[in-house]
Amino acid sequence: MREGYTVAVVGAGLVGDRIVAELRRRDFPLKDLRVLARTARRATLAGEEFDVGVAEPEAFEGVDIAFFAGTEGEKGAAVQLAGEAIARGAVVIDNGSDFRLDPKVPLVVPEVNADALEGHEGLIANANCSTITMLLPLAPLIRRFGAKKVVVSTYQAVSGSGREGVDALENGREGVYPKPIKGNAIPLIGGAGDDGYTTEERKMRLESRKILGLPDLEVYATAVRIPVHTAHSESVFVETEREAGLEEVVETLRAAPGVVFSGDADDFPTPLEAVGDSGTFVGRVRVEGNNVQFWCVSDNLLKGAATNAVQIAEELVGVRV
Ligand SMILES: NC(=O)c1ccc[n+]([C@@H]2O[C@H](COP(=O)([O-])OP(=O)(O)OC[C@H]3O[C@@H](n4cnc5c(N)ncnc54)[C@H](OP(=O)(O)O)[C@@H]3O)[C@@H](O)[C@H]2O)c1
Repeated sequence: MREGYTVAVVGAGLVGDRIVAELRRRDFPLKDLRVLARTARRATLAGEEFDVGVAEPEAFEGVDIAFFAGTEGEKGAAVQLAGEAIARGAVVIDNGSDFRLDPKVPLVVPEVNADALEGHEGLIANANCSTITMLLPLAPLIRRFGAKKVVVSTYQAVSGSGREGVDALENGREGVYPKPIKGNAIPLIGGAGDDGYTTEERKMRLESRKILGLPDLEVYATAVRIPVHTAHSESVFVETEREAGLEEVVETLRAAPGVVFSGDADDFPTPLEAVGDSGTFVGRVRVEGNNVQFWCVSDNLLKGAATNAVQIAEELVGVRV
């Protein structure tokens, strides 16, 4: 491990802010920390003042690790600039969905598949926030008991849509969601395809398959936006291949890395407890034969984005927290 690394954070939004916070909180070995966005300005991220630079190819000179937390798509930061950063010697850790399913790009949740980082080609993808939340408890259960089918319903916070989502809840901003979010529950996250599934629901299926190395895993998701500021909740049902006793399931969840387990039925986790914490909280476990159900919650900006990304960087440079 070197003395310190030159790190760039692309995007000064909600996730960029939390990446700065996690780099500091986890004491990541930094030589220099740059923040880049669409426009240059003074900005405060995680309580720290930055001269935000413009995200352009030359801004990646000398950068060892670049965290991308800008927007997605053809004109987005990662599609436009990840290659430029890699060409200048940086390893890119991308929070967006542009490259997650590319077979050459490792899609990593460190507690589940850190080994996928081996042989990376400069670009590593962070998984979708709902997928990460579900997989922390689900992966060890599937590895122990096998899985025939996973059915999940999400209850997702507005900060999952970035600053605009928070603005929609707090100030009634229009055009962010297809219906008003205040006092509502919207079962449509991303556009719906011909098969009726939304992009968010498809991400949960396809990303889970890739991360778990189970290309045929049946995952049926319903993704719902609710008027909560931060922390996504999920109700997960898994039909296991082998019969799973309650005691063994609880033992597996208690031992699961990154999982904070609540054993009592009335001690269930909620977004208000999870927000600001980097763990994934699990409770309300029920088991009948091969049918396992649980409830899980985690901060979408932390474990669902920034914490997972910084953990990937720690794996790359050999730091253990
Ligand atoms: N929010 C979540 O829970 C979450 C979870 C997992 C993954 N993600 C992903 O993380 C990314 C960031 O999300 P967010 O919630 O932080 O969004 P956000 O609050 O809307 O912030 C987006 C930031 O990206 C910058 N940006 C946009 N396009 C850019 C470009 N072409 N070049 C450089 N910077 C650009 C914006 O710059 P300006 O300030 O200059 O406009 C802004 O600072 C998205 O890809 C999102 O899908 C989000």
